[in-house]
Amino acid sequence: MLEASRLWRREGKSIGLVPTMGALHAGHLSLVDAARRENDVVVVSIFVNPIQFGPGEDFTRYPRDYAHDASLLEAAEVDAIYRPATAAMYPPGATTRVRVGDVAEPLEGAARPGHFEGVATVVTKLFAAVAPDRAYFGQKDAQQAAVVKRLVRDLDLGVDVRVQPIVREPDGLALSSRNVYLSPDERKAAVALSSALRAAADAYAGGERDPDALLAVLRRRLEAEPLVQVDYAELVDQATFQKPGTLAVVAARVGKTRLIDNHDLALGFPQDSFRSALK
Ligand code: PAJ
Repeated sequence: MLEASRLWRREGKSIGLVPTMGALHAGHLSLVDAARRENDVVVVSIFVNPIQFGPGEDFTRYPRDYAHDASLLEAAEVDAIYRPATAAMYPPGATTRVRVGDVAEPLEGAARPGHFEGVATVVTKLFAAVAPDRAYFGQKDAQQAAVVKRLVRDLDLGVDVRVQPIVREPDGLALSSRNVYLSPDERKAAVALSSALRAAADAYAGGERDPDALLAVLRRRLEAEPLVQVDYAELVDQATFQKPGTLAVVAARVGKTRLIDNHDLALGFPQDSFRSALK
């Protein structure tokens, strides 16, 4: 991979990287499109990273369909798919880990111990192997994007981290590889996450600024759905993931499936895919 990347670099080409775990959907493809627009060469990595899954999480049953992923990426005209073997990424004795610190600690970091260390480590390795000019991440995983930005800054990795808007289903549900786990009833209930965010954003647009009042709106809508168990619902700063802030973040279990979503309440909807998706 690094040899290919050096060759492109010698030809004066810019390189965009889209890191993924496969099971690709339109959310991933929106990152590929952005990379295509902004770079000469696009590399998509597909690697289900074992060290970012906790014990009892879905590593073994995570959806894998390389033939389908490859056909989508071929249609999207990517230049290379980087799909390292697990044993090549983590040979025996590969014990180095990257720990980012405070931005990685609350919320997803607290709910999933070791998760962001796994993400930061694999992203560092992917950046080393691909040596991209730009790397593309989804706002869907807002805390991950903030962690990667901090990682790049603190370790002087010199990669431009480009964060792209959340792609949603017509009813508002954020696209996720994990949505395939949902039963039909759970799928209907799962819309509560995005509609709760919308209700809070409507309250914000109506002038409400009290964080407790905004969170009450958010939680009320989530708790109205019996199949949804709220893990957390908070208002944080987009860059630091500390309070206070206008980024509403939620995590909830729908049946056995854990889903996350977020929306910046200060953004207003019109220019955003959210409103059109929820009309
Ligand atoms: P994965 O879950 O496959 O997601 C890959 C990228 O797609 C992430 O940046 C994620 O935020 C983005 N994405 C997922 N759903 C999206 C949606 N509905 N709209 C916009 N973007 C979306 O995130 C990971 O993989 C891994 O943690 C990884 C960064 C690859 C490291 O292993």
